[in-house]
Amino acid sequence: MIVGSRDPEKAKAAATKIQNIVGKDSRVSGLVNTEAASRTDVVVVTIPFTALIDTIKSIKPSLRPGQIVVNVTVPLETAVGGSATRTVEVWDGSAGELAARLLPKEVRLVSAFNNVSAEMLNDLTKNVDCDVLICGGDADAKKVVMDLAKAIPGARGIDAGPIENSRTVERLTALLVSLNIRHGVNSAGLRITGVQPKN
Ligand SMILES: NC(=O)c1ccc[n+]([C@@H]2O[C@H](COP(=O)([O-])OP(=O)(O)OC[C@H]3O[C@@H](n4cnc5c(N)ncnc54)[C@H](OP(=O)(O)O)[C@@H]3O)[C@@H](O)[C@H]2O)c1
Repeated sequence: MIVGSRDPEKAKAAATKIQNIVGKDSRVSGLVNTEAASRTDVVVVTIPFTALIDTIKSIKPSLRPGQIVVNVTVPLETAVGGSATRTVEVWDGSAGELAARLLPKEVRLVSAFNNVSAEMLNDLTKNVDCDVLICGGDADAKKVVMDLAKAIPGARGIDAGPIENSRTVERLTALLVSLNIRHGVNSAGLRITGVQPKN
């Protein structure tokens, strides 16, 4: 795994931190975003919404045909100084669709992990109690991301249809933040019932 950052030292520090947690079985390194993006098959973009356009444009020349880009970014109002319980309107419909428009068609854009809380992911003592809704137009890319979701204890990857459905999925993050605040927790997640993932 490669951790990307705007700052190579920050990337290395984050990689060392993760390496110490996962142990020697996995190799974790840290690089600036452009280099990190060029060296992996799956690029996960998880940044504040206001940085999405510039970041996608900056990594675009590093990407190659067939690569998968996973957009986790949600257009929460916090990005423009507002509340995390609301989203801002995106002309394209969602952050996922905005990222898809900015990328070449040969790069496979998938939207996923938008509803999974970082606090939940950070607590390795507990299973992640949240489904991962995966939106996008490339079935094979979605299968790859589904396998990534499955590797997280407790999480399930669910094919949530085309990238346009990311409009609904991203808004649910604002609802989850609102539930966290209302109930004084940081563990609100989503479970889809009556659907068995196909992988
Ligand atoms: N946190 C959650 O629980 C959660 C859950 C679901 C979805 N999301 C979504 O995931 C995204 C990331 O959330 P987060 O909480 O991880 O955000 P964050 O901690 O504020 O930012 C993540 C990273 O983005 C980079 N970054 C910050 N400002 C930037 C800028 N102006 N330009 C380029 N890169 C910048 C920083 O990395 P470097 O300084 O190393 O470059 C930072 O460590 C957001 O869109 C959020 O809505 C978050």
